[in-house]
Amino acid sequence: MRSTPKRYTRKQLLQHYAADSQPFTYIDGHAGRGIYDLGENLTEFQNYGLNLLERHHHRLSSGTPGAVASLLEANRRLNGPNETRWYLGSPSLATSWIREQDRMTALEASQEHQPALEAAFGRTLAADGAARRVDIRRENSYLYLSDLSVAGRGLILLDPPYEPYSQYLSWNLWAIDSLRSRCPDTCILMWYPCSGEADRQSLHLRVRDLGLQNAVFAELCETDFGKKKGALVSSGVLLVNPPTDMLDLEAKVQEILSCLQDAFHPVLSMETSYLKV
Ligand SMILES: C[S@@+](CC[C@H](N)C(=O)[O-])C[C@H]1O[C@@H](n2cnc3c(N)ncnc32)[C@H](O)[C@@H]1O
Repeated sequence: MRSTPKRYTRKQLLQHYAADSQPFTYIDGHAGRGIYDLGENLTEFQNYGLNLLERHHHRLSSGTPGAVASLLEANRRLNGPNETRWYLGSPSLATSWIREQDRMTALEASQEHQPALEAAFGRTLAADGAARRVDIRRENSYLYLSDLSVAGRGLILLDPPYEPYSQYLSWNLWAIDSLRSRCPDTCILMWYPCSGEADRQSLHLRVRDLGLQNAVFAELCETDFGKKKGALVSSGVLLVNPPTDMLDLEAKVQEILSCLQDAFHPVLSMETSYLKV
């Protein structure tokens, strides 16, 4: 739930898919509650990261990357000009990109989160029948993905569940490997923490072992992994099978990474990296 490259890269991809009339499928593998009340569960840095980004946006005026600016606007629409109490989670941010021809599935295993997730969709879906195109399922995403086939274009978000890192990483890599043949035109975006150089290198090796043909790592990591506060914002995304007709993918992702790096600069020294697998 932070100002990570995941949020803005995913936005960039959805924007790309929605730029022409062909339908696409969006699947949120770990949907969560949809909207979070930071007033109830505030960690200092969640608010701080967003505030730093907003301050940077005001400084840049019109120079903020589009994906970042539009998410900041969505946040302001929900919160009003002076507060940041409500935080838009991944499924709520995606709904504005789902058109009549598209389909979205939000998977959330926890029964406890279901009412909040449904209420969040009620708040963010336009009253134009969009609800019919969004399927909220109380389901284990790994089971759901194990026999999923997507014929056309699609995007699957694999966020972390709440299991320990080593467990969910194995599940996520297994899902990526098994989806390749059944969803050949689907992009998979997997979030991962960059909490230390050894974990980062090990993740890179494990991903390389999968022999993916078209994949990139995009990361924003604190230069000194030893400082605890950096672990809150150091993270990466693995993009598997990004759309081949998105010729400016690298430029757009680099732009997002640099914007976040600059925004965090007053408190954290971060480095960015964009690496083809
Ligand atoms: C970090 S939160 C997701 C945050 C959300 N993607 C966002 O950005 O707003 C992880 C969620 O995954 C759910 N979860 C854990 N394991 C799952 C599974 N196997 N299938 C579906 N949901 C799962 C948890 O209940 C939790 O709500």
